[in-house]
Amino acid sequence: MTLFPVDKDDYKPLGKTGEKLSAIGLGSWAIRDYNEALQSYIYAVSLGINHFDTAEMYGAGEAEEFIGRVVREVGRDSVFITTKLYPYRFRDRDEAVKAARQSAERMGVKYIDLVLIHWPDPQVSIQEQVRNLEAIAEAGVARYIGVSNFDVSELEEAIYAARKHEIVVDQVKYSVVDRRIERSLLPFAIKNGITIQAYSPLERGQVAHIKLLARIGRKYGKTAIQVGLNFVISRPRVVAIPKAEKKEHVKEIAESMGWRLNEEDIEYIETKL
Ligand SMILES: NC(=O)c1ccc[n+]([C@@H]2O[C@H](COP(=O)([O-])OP(=O)(O)OC[C@H]3O[C@@H](n4cnc5c(N)ncnc54)[C@H](OP(=O)(O)O)[C@@H]3O)[C@@H](O)[C@H]2O)c1
Repeated sequence: MTLFPVDKDDYKPLGKTGEKLSAIGLGSWAIRDYNEALQSYIYAVSLGINHFDTAEMYGAGEAEEFIGRVVREVGRDSVFITTKLYPYRFRDRDEAVKAARQSAERMGVKYIDLVLIHWPDPQVSIQEQVRNLEAIAEAGVARYIGVSNFDVSELEEAIYAARKHEIVVDQVKYSVVDRRIERSLLPFAIKNGITIQAYSPLERGQVAHIKLLARIGRKYGKTAIQVGLNFVISRPRVVAIPKAEKKEHVKEIAESMGWRLNEEDIEYIETKL
């Protein structure tokens, strides 16, 4: 028996909103060549990838500007944009709304789809952070709200604190070799309808070199990267947000959708890796 029921859908629900995100999205941290990346991200949308992740922190605003360039090429309705704001922004309602507006402006969009607290701020109660996060949705700058790097008790508190807008996402580190969230956060998310956005799902490229994954992949005509991502998106409620600026990497990543590892192989990876 696998640890979780296998989710075979390549379009996953966003919280309880009724919206769907492709099982794979693209991150935008540490892009080296924005011109090369532009072509890759446009290509990604043509392969069925429909969401991008960014943050005001990445490249000190440059990554958001880049997402804006991509969106102008592919059309605003083709992509769902997540951005993350520094935790200190959520100490004050006006500061939070202002920062979100600045992010939207950098991207040249009228609204952000999803705004997250990048990580919890130990200096302010979660209740206060979430109230100020909600203000962004109330002001119409973001459609949905969520959190990042919140553990299960912090997430629970955030859900409880939200009044008018539900927390729909927790963006956390999750990969085939870093499965810490499977202990309590993932079961909690599945039970409560929270979408997990799995960041660093390639372990910054290291997953490509895992021999066990390459061996399993041969059976399916897939690579280690594709097996590693397929494992992650086979979990209910999980979408992965790898980053890839090389076109061939984007193709390889996109082809981790459209099929599933069988239960025996998932179980084998669960026990042997
Ligand atoms: N919320 C948070 O605190 C947080 C923290 C970290 C990351 N994130 C988000 O998650 C995204 C992804 O995480 P990440 O950037 O840390 O790492 P990642 O997705 O695990 O790895 C990215 C690296 O893998 C390489 N790669 C991509 N496809 C590949 C392939 N098919 N074969 C071999 N290598 C491949 C990329 O190379 P190329 O770029 O050269 O193609 C890049 O160097 C970030 O960009 C960011 O948006 C969020």
